[in-house]
Amino acid sequence: MIFEQIATGGCQSYLIGCGETRAAVLIDPEISQIDHYLALAARDGLRIRYLIDTHTHADHFSATRQLARRLDLPTVMHRASGAPFVDMRIDDGEMIIVGKLRLQAIHTPGHTRDSMCLQVEDRLFTGDTLLIGATGRTDLPTGDPEALYDSLFNRLLRLDPNLQVFPAHDYKGRQSSTIGQEIATNPRLRQRDRRAFVDLMLNLDLSMPTHVTEALRTNMSGGKPVAQLLAEAAARVPFMSLSELKARIGAAESDLIVVDVRERDAYEGGHIPGARLLPRGQLELRVNQEFPDPTRRLLTCCELGYISTLAAATLREMGFLRAVALDGGIKAWREAAYPLTTGREA
Ligand SMILES: [Fe+2]
Repeated sequence: MIFEQIATGGCQSYLIGCGETRAAVLIDPEISQIDHYLALAARDGLRIRYLIDTHTHADHFSATRQLARRLDLPTVMHRASGAPFVDMRIDDGEMIIVGKLRLQAIHTPGHTRDSMCLQVEDRLFTGDTLLIGATGRTDLPTGDPEALYDSLFNRLLRLDPNLQVFPAHDYKGRQSSTIGQEIATNPRLRQRDRRAFVDLMLNLDLSMPTHVTEALRTNMSGGKPVAQLLAEAAARVPFMSLSELKARIGAAESDLIVVDVRERDAYEGGHIPGARLLPRGQLELRVNQEFPDPTRRLLTCCELGYISTLAAATLREMGFLRAVALDGGIKAWREAAYPLTTGREA
Protein backbone atom coordinates (compact mmCIF):
# COMPACT_ATOMS: atom_id res chain seq x y z
CA MET A 1 0.00 0.00 0.00
CA ILE A 2 1.22 3.47 -0.85
CA PHE A 3 0.26 5.85 1.90
CA GLU A 4 0.45 9.64 2.22
CA GLN A 5 -0.90 11.61 5.16
CA ILE A 6 -1.47 15.28 4.46
CA ALA A 7 -2.15 17.70 7.34
CA THR A 8 -3.83 21.09 6.92
CA GLY A 9 -3.81 22.74 10.31
CA GLY A 10 -5.61 20.14 12.39
CA CYS A 11 -7.29 18.42 9.42
CA GLN A 12 -5.86 15.17 8.15
CA SER A 13 -6.39 13.77 4.68
CA TYR A 14 -5.05 10.59 3.12
CA LEU A 15 -3.93 9.45 -0.29
CA ILE A 16 -3.90 5.67 -0.42
CA GLY A 17 -2.67 3.80 -3.45
CA CYS A 18 -2.39 0.23 -4.63
CA GLY A 19 1.31 -0.46 -5.22
CA GLU A 20 0.54 -3.01 -7.90
CA THR A 21 -2.05 -1.27 -10.07
CA ARG A 22 -1.27 2.34 -9.03
CA ALA A 23 -4.99 3.06 -8.52
CA ALA A 24 -5.58 5.37 -5.57
CA VAL A 25 -8.21 6.98 -3.40
CA LEU A 26 -8.24 10.31 -1.61
CA ILE A 27 -9.94 10.48 1.79
CA ASP A 28 -11.21 13.79 3.24
CA PRO A 29 -9.36 16.12 0.85
CA GLU A 30 -9.21 19.78 1.86
CA ILE A 31 -9.62 22.57 -0.64
CA SER A 32 -6.35 24.42 -0.07
CA GLN A 33 -4.31 21.24 -0.74
CA ILE A 34 -5.54 20.36 -4.22
CA ASP A 35 -2.19 21.06 -5.90
CA HIS A 36 -0.44 19.12 -3.11
CA TYR A 37 -2.61 16.01 -3.63
CA LEU A 38 -2.15 16.04 -7.38
CA ALA A 39 1.60 16.52 -7.00
CA LEU A 40 1.86 13.63 -4.51
CA ALA A 41 -0.17 11.35 -6.75
CA ALA A 42 2.08 12.23 -9.69
CA ARG A 43 5.25 11.74 -7.65
CA ASP A 44 4.06 8.34 -6.42
CA GLY A 45 2.88 7.32 -9.87
CA LEU A 46 -0.74 7.04 -8.73
CA ARG A 47 -3.99 7.58 -10.55
CA ILE A 48 -6.76 8.75 -8.22
CA ARG A 49 -9.99 6.79 -8.78
CA TYR A 50 -12.31 7.91 -5.98
CA LEU A 51 -12.77 10.91 -3.71
CA ILE A 52 -14.24 10.03 -0.35
CA ASP A 53 -15.57 12.20 2.47
CA THR A 54 -15.94 10.26 5.71
CA HIS A 55 -18.80 12.63 6.65
CA THR A 56 -20.25 16.09 6.05
CA HIS A 57 -17.52 18.32 7.46
CA ALA A 58 -18.52 21.36 9.46
CA ASP A 59 -15.06 22.72 10.08
CA HIS A 60 -13.16 22.62 6.83
CA PHE A 61 -13.81 22.98 3.14
CA SER A 62 -13.97 19.68 1.32
CA ALA A 63 -12.20 19.42 -2.04
CA THR A 64 -14.13 16.38 -3.25
CA ARG A 65 -16.56 18.30 -5.44
CA GLN A 66 -13.90 20.42 -7.11
CA LEU A 67 -11.53 17.50 -7.68
CA ALA A 68 -14.38 15.36 -8.97
CA ARG A 69 -15.15 17.94 -11.63
CA ARG A 70 -11.56 18.56 -12.53
CA LEU A 71 -10.55 14.90 -12.74
CA ASP A 72 -13.93 13.53 -13.83
CA LEU A 73 -14.06 11.18 -10.83
CA PRO A 74 -16.85 9.94 -8.57
CA THR A 75 -17.31 11.33 -5.07
CA VAL A 76 -18.23 8.77 -2.44
CA MET A 77 -20.08 9.33 0.83
CA HIS A 78 -22.32 7.39 3.13
CA ARG A 79 -25.93 6.89 2.03
CA ALA A 80 -27.13 9.31 4.74
CA SER A 81 -25.19 12.26 3.30
CA GLY A 82 -27.37 15.20 2.33
CA ALA A 83 -24.98 16.49 -0.33
CA PRO A 84 -26.74 16.36 -3.72
CA PHE A 85 -23.52 16.01 -5.75
CA VAL A 86 -22.42 12.65 -4.30
CA ASP A 87 -22.02 10.17 -7.15
CA MET A 88 -21.75 6.95 -5.20
CA ARG A 89 -23.56 6.50 -1.91
CA ILE A 90 -22.44 3.50 0.07
CA ASP A 91 -23.77 1.68 3.07
CA ASP A 92 -22.46 -0.22 6.04
CA GLY A 93 -20.61 -3.38 5.12
CA GLU A 94 -19.93 -2.39 1.52
CA MET A 95 -16.53 -2.04 -0.08
CA ILE A 96 -14.84 0.26 -2.54
CA ILE A 97 -12.29 -1.61 -4.63
CA VAL A 98 -9.21 0.37 -5.60
CA GLY A 99 -6.81 -1.78 -7.57
CA LYS A 100 -6.00 -4.64 -5.21
CA LEU A 101 -7.06 -2.66 -2.15
CA ARG A 102 -10.43 -3.07 -0.52
CA LEU A 103 -11.88 -0.25 1.53
CA GLN A 104 -14.50 -1.57 3.89
CA ALA A 105 -17.16 0.96 5.00
CA ILE A 106 -18.39 0.90 8.59
CA HIS A 107 -21.32 3.23 9.25
CA THR A 108 -20.55 5.03 12.52
CA PRO A 109 -23.17 7.74 13.09
CA GLY A 110 -22.83 10.02 16.10
CA HIS A 111 -20.53 12.89 15.14
CA THR A 112 -22.84 13.23 12.14
CA ARG A 113 -25.56 10.95 10.83
CA ASP A 114 -23.51 10.23 7.69
CA SER A 115 -20.21 9.40 9.42
CA MET A 116 -18.41 6.28 8.26
CA CYS A 117 -15.03 4.71 8.93
CA LEU A 118 -13.01 2.93 6.28
CA GLN A 119 -10.86 -0.07 6.95
CA VAL A 120 -8.05 -0.88 4.54
CA GLU A 121 -5.84 -3.80 5.55
CA ASP A 122 -4.38 -2.94 8.98
CA ARG A 123 -5.51 0.68 8.91
CA LEU A 124 -8.75 2.27 10.00
CA PHE A 125 -9.66 5.73 8.77
CA THR A 126 -11.97 6.93 11.50
CA GLY A 127 -13.09 10.34 10.23
CA ASP A 128 -14.29 12.29 13.26
CA THR A 129 -15.80 9.27 15.00
CA LEU A 130 -12.67 8.30 16.91
CA LEU A 131 -9.81 10.78 17.32
CA ILE A 132 -6.50 10.28 19.09
CA GLY A 133 -7.32 10.81 22.76
CA ALA A 134 -10.78 12.14 21.92
CA THR A 135 -13.90 11.57 19.87
CA GLY A 136 -15.78 13.72 17.42
CA ARG A 137 -18.19 16.20 18.98
CA THR A 138 -21.93 15.52 18.81
CA ASP A 139 -23.31 19.05 19.10
CA LEU A 140 -23.17 20.02 15.41
CA PRO A 141 -26.02 19.37 12.95
CA THR A 142 -27.11 15.66 12.89
CA GLY A 143 -24.82 14.85 15.83
CA ASP A 144 -26.14 12.29 18.32
CA PRO A 145 -24.26 11.15 21.45
CA GLU A 146 -26.33 7.97 21.80
CA ALA A 147 -25.44 6.94 18.26
CA LEU A 148 -21.78 7.80 18.89
CA TYR A 149 -21.80 5.55 21.94
CA ASP A 150 -23.00 2.62 19.82
CA SER A 151 -20.58 3.41 17.01
CA LEU A 152 -17.65 3.45 19.40
CA PHE A 153 -18.39 0.81 22.01
CA ASN A 154 -20.38 -1.62 19.88
CA ARG A 155 -18.46 -1.23 16.62
CA LEU A 156 -14.99 0.33 16.56
CA LEU A 157 -13.68 -0.73 19.95
CA ARG A 158 -14.57 -4.36 19.14
CA LEU A 159 -12.24 -4.38 16.15
CA ASP A 160 -8.70 -5.78 16.26
CA PRO A 161 -6.78 -3.78 18.91
CA ASN A 162 -3.77 -3.71 16.58
CA LEU A 163 -5.65 -1.80 13.88
CA GLN A 164 -3.97 1.54 13.27
CA VAL A 165 -6.25 4.53 13.71
CA PHE A 166 -5.96 7.46 11.31
CA PRO A 167 -8.42 10.21 12.22
CA ALA A 168 -9.67 13.16 10.15
CA HIS A 169 -8.34 15.54 12.79
CA ASP A 170 -5.47 15.89 15.14
CA TYR A 171 -4.60 19.27 16.55
CA LYS A 172 -1.42 18.13 18.29
CA GLY A 173 0.56 16.94 15.28
CA ARG A 174 0.15 13.23 16.02
CA GLN A 175 -0.27 10.94 13.03
CA SER A 176 -1.83 7.73 14.24
CA SER A 177 -2.75 5.52 17.15
CA THR A 178 -4.23 2.02 17.49
CA ILE A 179 -7.59 0.76 18.71
CA GLY A 180 -5.78 -0.85 21.67
CA GLN A 181 -4.02 2.38 22.62
CA GLU A 182 -7.26 4.32 22.46
CA ILE A 183 -9.08 1.81 24.65
CA ALA A 184 -6.22 2.08 27.17
CA THR A 185 -5.65 5.84 27.17
CA ASN A 186 -8.49 7.81 25.54
CA PRO A 187 -10.19 9.76 28.36
CA ARG A 188 -13.54 9.91 26.52
CA LEU A 189 -13.66 6.12 26.38
CA ARG A 190 -13.32 5.69 30.14
CA GLN A 191 -17.06 6.26 30.46
CA ARG A 192 -18.10 2.81 29.38
CA ASP A 193 -21.58 3.34 30.77
CA ARG A 194 -23.96 4.68 28.10
CA ARG A 195 -25.64 7.29 30.33
CA ALA A 196 -22.33 8.62 31.64
CA PHE A 197 -20.88 8.83 28.11
CA VAL A 198 -23.93 10.69 26.78
CA ASP A 199 -23.81 13.12 29.71
CA LEU A 200 -20.12 13.70 29.09
CA MET A 201 -20.78 14.46 25.40
CA LEU A 202 -23.72 16.75 26.19
CA ASN A 203 -21.65 18.80 28.62
CA LEU A 204 -18.46 19.36 26.65
CA ASP A 205 -19.37 23.01 26.05
CA LEU A 206 -17.14 23.40 22.99
CA SER A 207 -16.87 26.61 21.03
CA MET A 208 -18.23 26.58 17.48
CA PRO A 209 -15.62 25.85 14.82
CA THR A 210 -14.74 28.86 12.71
CA HIS A 211 -16.52 28.97 9.33
CA VAL A 212 -19.10 26.40 10.46
CA THR A 213 -21.95 27.97 8.48
CA GLU A 214 -19.89 28.45 5.36
CA ALA A 215 -18.36 24.97 5.59
CA LEU A 216 -21.75 23.30 5.94
CA ARG A 217 -23.23 25.44 3.18
CA THR A 218 -20.51 24.63 0.69
CA ASN A 219 -19.87 21.01 1.69
CA MET A 220 -23.57 20.18 1.49
CA SER A 221 -24.24 22.01 -1.78
CA GLY A 222 -20.95 21.79 -3.64
CA GLY A 223 -20.91 25.61 -3.72
CA LYS A 224 -17.76 27.64 -3.38
CA PRO A 225 -16.31 29.17 -0.22
CA VAL A 226 -15.44 32.87 -0.40
CA ALA A 227 -11.72 32.08 -0.26
CA GLN A 228 -12.10 29.91 -3.36
CA LEU A 229 -13.92 32.66 -5.27
CA LEU A 230 -11.10 35.03 -4.39
CA ALA A 231 -8.40 32.53 -5.33
CA GLU A 232 -10.05 31.89 -8.70
CA ALA A 233 -10.28 35.61 -9.39
CA ALA A 234 -6.67 36.14 -8.28
CA ALA A 235 -5.53 33.41 -10.68
CA ARG A 236 -6.98 35.39 -13.60
CA VAL A 237 -5.47 38.82 -12.94
CA PRO A 238 -2.03 40.34 -12.58
CA PHE A 239 -1.21 42.57 -9.62
CA MET A 240 0.78 45.74 -9.05
CA SER A 241 2.59 46.43 -5.78
CA LEU A 242 1.88 49.49 -3.67
CA SER A 243 5.40 50.87 -4.19
CA GLU A 244 5.24 50.35 -7.95
CA LEU A 245 1.94 52.23 -8.12
CA LYS A 246 3.29 55.03 -5.93
CA ALA A 247 6.31 55.43 -8.22
CA ARG A 248 4.09 55.51 -11.31
CA ILE A 249 1.78 58.09 -9.77
CA GLY A 250 4.84 60.14 -8.79
CA ALA A 251 6.00 60.03 -12.40
CA ALA A 252 2.54 61.22 -13.46
CA GLU A 253 2.11 58.27 -15.77
CA SER A 254 -0.87 59.06 -17.94
CA ASP A 255 -1.43 55.55 -19.20
CA LEU A 256 -2.66 54.14 -15.90
CA ILE A 257 -6.16 54.77 -14.51
CA VAL A 258 -6.64 53.93 -10.84
CA VAL A 259 -10.22 52.77 -10.22
CA ASP A 260 -11.35 52.90 -6.59
CA VAL A 261 -14.18 50.37 -6.19
CA ARG A 262 -15.17 51.29 -2.61
CA GLU A 263 -18.29 53.31 -1.75
CA ARG A 264 -18.29 57.09 -2.11
CA ASP A 265 -17.87 57.94 1.60
CA ALA A 266 -14.79 55.72 1.89
CA TYR A 267 -13.41 57.20 -1.34
CA GLU A 268 -13.93 60.78 -0.19
CA GLY A 269 -12.37 59.93 3.17
CA GLY A 270 -9.05 59.36 1.41
CA HIS A 271 -8.13 57.86 -1.97
CA ILE A 272 -5.07 57.38 -4.13
CA PRO A 273 -4.39 60.71 -5.91
CA GLY A 274 -6.12 60.81 -9.26
CA ALA A 275 -8.19 57.68 -8.60
CA ARG A 276 -11.62 57.48 -10.21
CA LEU A 277 -14.59 56.28 -8.19
CA LEU A 278 -16.61 53.33 -9.48
CA PRO A 279 -18.13 51.29 -6.62
CA ARG A 280 -18.01 47.52 -7.08
CA GLY A 281 -21.80 47.37 -6.79
CA GLN A 282 -22.17 49.62 -9.86
CA LEU A 283 -19.26 48.30 -11.88
CA GLU A 284 -21.15 46.44 -14.60
CA LEU A 285 -23.85 49.11 -14.84
CA ARG A 286 -21.57 52.11 -15.25
CA VAL A 287 -18.44 50.70 -16.83
CA ASN A 288 -19.51 51.50 -20.40
CA GLN A 289 -19.98 55.22 -19.67
CA GLU A 290 -16.99 55.52 -17.35
CA PHE A 291 -14.47 53.62 -19.46
CA PRO A 292 -15.52 53.57 -23.11
CA ASP A 293 -12.02 52.60 -24.23
CA PRO A 294 -11.34 48.96 -23.31
CA THR A 295 -7.67 49.26 -24.25
CA ARG A 296 -6.96 51.49 -21.27
CA ARG A 297 -4.93 50.11 -18.39
CA LEU A 298 -7.26 50.05 -15.35
CA LEU A 299 -5.88 49.36 -11.89
CA THR A 300 -8.52 48.47 -9.30
CA CYS A 301 -8.16 49.18 -5.61
CA CYS A 302 -10.35 48.78 -2.51
CA GLU A 303 -9.85 48.83 1.26
CA LEU A 304 -8.25 45.39 1.71
CA GLY A 305 -7.44 44.16 -1.79
CA TYR A 306 -10.07 41.43 -2.03
CA ILE A 307 -12.99 43.19 -3.71
CA SER A 308 -10.57 44.91 -6.08
CA THR A 309 -9.34 41.47 -7.18
CA LEU A 310 -12.91 40.40 -7.96
CA ALA A 311 -13.45 43.73 -9.79
CA ALA A 312 -10.30 43.30 -11.91
CA ALA A 313 -11.35 39.73 -12.79
CA THR A 314 -14.79 41.02 -13.82
CA LEU A 315 -13.22 43.76 -15.94
CA ARG A 316 -10.97 41.22 -17.69
CA GLU A 317 -13.97 39.00 -18.29
CA MET A 318 -15.73 41.99 -19.86
CA GLY A 319 -12.84 42.62 -22.24
CA PHE A 320 -10.69 45.13 -20.36
CA LEU A 321 -7.68 42.95 -21.04
CA ARG A 322 -5.24 45.26 -19.27
CA ALA A 323 -7.13 45.34 -15.97
CA VAL A 324 -4.82 44.81 -13.01
CA ALA A 325 -5.45 44.75 -9.25
CA LEU A 326 -3.52 46.46 -6.49
CA ASP A 327 -1.57 43.97 -4.36
CA GLY A 328 -2.92 45.21 -1.04
CA GLY A 329 -5.49 47.89 -0.39
CA ILE A 330 -5.97 51.47 0.73
CA LYS A 331 -5.51 50.30 4.32
CA ALA A 332 -1.95 49.19 3.52
CA TRP A 333 -1.40 52.31 1.39
CA ARG A 334 -2.49 54.47 4.34
CA GLU A 335 -0.28 52.53 6.77
CA ALA A 336 2.68 53.02 4.43
CA ALA A 337 2.00 56.78 4.73
CA TYR A 338 1.67 57.08 0.95
CA PRO A 339 -0.18 60.17 -0.34
CA LEU A 340 -3.98 60.33 -0.16
CA THR A 341 -6.47 62.85 -1.51
CA THR A 342 -9.69 63.58 0.37
CA GLY A 343 -13.01 64.67 -1.11
CA ARG A 344 -13.76 64.49 -4.84
CA GLU A 345 -11.21 64.60 -7.61
CA ALA A 346 -11.06 68.01 -9.29
FE1 LIG B 1 -16.15 16.58 11.34
